[in-house]
Amino acid sequence: MPNTKSAPTHLALCCTAEDFQAAAKAVLPNKSWVYVSSSANSGASLDSNLNDWSLINFRPRIMRSVSALNTKCSILGQTGQYPFFVSAMGTLGNAHPGAEPLLARGATRKGLHTVISTATSKSLEDIMDAHLDEQQRLKNQSPSKLFFQLYVPIDRTKAKSLIQRVKAAGYQSLWVTVDTSTLGKRTADRYLQAQEALDQGVRETTRDPAAENDFGPAFGGRPVPGYLDPGLTWEDLAWISREWNGPVVLKGIQTVEDVRLAVQHGVQGVLLSNHGGRQIHSAPSALMTLLEIRTYYPEAFDKLEIYVDGGLRDGADVLKALCLGATAVGVGRPYYYAMAAYGLEGVERCTDIIAEELEITMKMLGVSSLDQLRPEMVNATRLLNEMWRPEMPRPKL
Ligand SMILES: Cc1cc2nc3c(=O)[nH]c(=O)nc-3n(C[C@H](O)[C@H](O)[C@H](O)COP(=O)(O)O)c2cc1C
Repeated sequence: MPNTKSAPTHLALCCTAEDFQAAAKAVLPNKSWVYVSSSANSGASLDSNLNDWSLINFRPRIMRSVSALNTKCSILGQTGQYPFFVSAMGTLGNAHPGAEPLLARGATRKGLHTVISTATSKSLEDIMDAHLDEQQRLKNQSPSKLFFQLYVPIDRTKAKSLIQRVKAAGYQSLWVTVDTSTLGKRTADRYLQAQEALDQGVRETTRDPAAENDFGPAFGGRPVPGYLDPGLTWEDLAWISREWNGPVVLKGIQTVEDVRLAVQHGVQGVLLSNHGGRQIHSAPSALMTLLEIRTYYPEAFDKLEIYVDGGLRDGADVLKALCLGATAVGVGRPYYYAMAAYGLEGVERCTDIIAEELEITMKMLGVSSLDQLRPEMVNATRLLNEMWRPEMPRPKL
């Protein structure tokens, strides 16, 4: 539970999305801090998520009228205020007692779409109620919508009834996570577990005792039996789509080959993601996968929507992904950190910071709406140089 450890810096002193990290560290219990900040193995996957954004430069255009800006962006037909959204994160009750309902309220106030995790601390119905209540308070003026991220339960009867609950609650699209055939090796969690075992009389429990969701998430770095399905295959998409009967997005695609399969299986969107660097070690960043698609399967951009997430900490960078064909960008940890340190105000401020950076950059890039973004407005050569190339037949010497 927050926030008695020490007072965070004044909210006014948070001027970048990065600033929320130190503020959260100052207030979070160690176990929650480790849960949110940890990554797989040596941290290489997280590092490339963070670093690859800066390997792309803008090629700004001048003297174009940018007096009236439009940042609106449609995700699967739902037009939100911005081309970024909150990515699915489990157990927000460990960040703040308001948990997911509080996140939903903050995002709704800002017109932001949010993906709600299967691994919530509060029930999916309560989260939707908070969103709808906030909508009503705003006289239904907020364009914000809630989407649902699905970990497919191994027990298919459970899976189908979960999908039906999500549908009945009014979530707009289903984001099926496909990068969790097992839980990644969360190194910082391992140290914590070992220390707990050595200390024996552990105070902090591995499960949030206040959780209202019977899906105990991977909090504490331990997988939960029944939820991470190593047997999930492309064939499962048929019954998932049938049960859901609405837009489906695959979350966690990391190669162009799998984007091609996603198109063949008729899904409406893919979220290029390596789970915030928390799953496979030495994963490609989403930007790298985006470049693979542009190079080897550019037709994909006309067949489904392509989102990216991982390491986004600056609103300017959202525009780089959009120039390269992405529809929108997901943001994870900054929202967890902002909530942990400042609750609802943190969620709002985090959005304002990213939005302001986006708007400033749009102006100096010479675009007044997102449909004016073009691939020529960025130089991605440094990343392209490192991009995967198919093996060539060896020359005979
Ligand atoms: C604390 C935390 C919890 C997460 N929980 C989930 C989850 O329940 N389901 C899921 O598909 N992804 C989950 N993710 C991955 C995020 O959806 C997203 O891919 C990632 O956080 C983006 O990277 P970023 O945190 O650097 O922005 C989680 C990430 C974090 C940091």
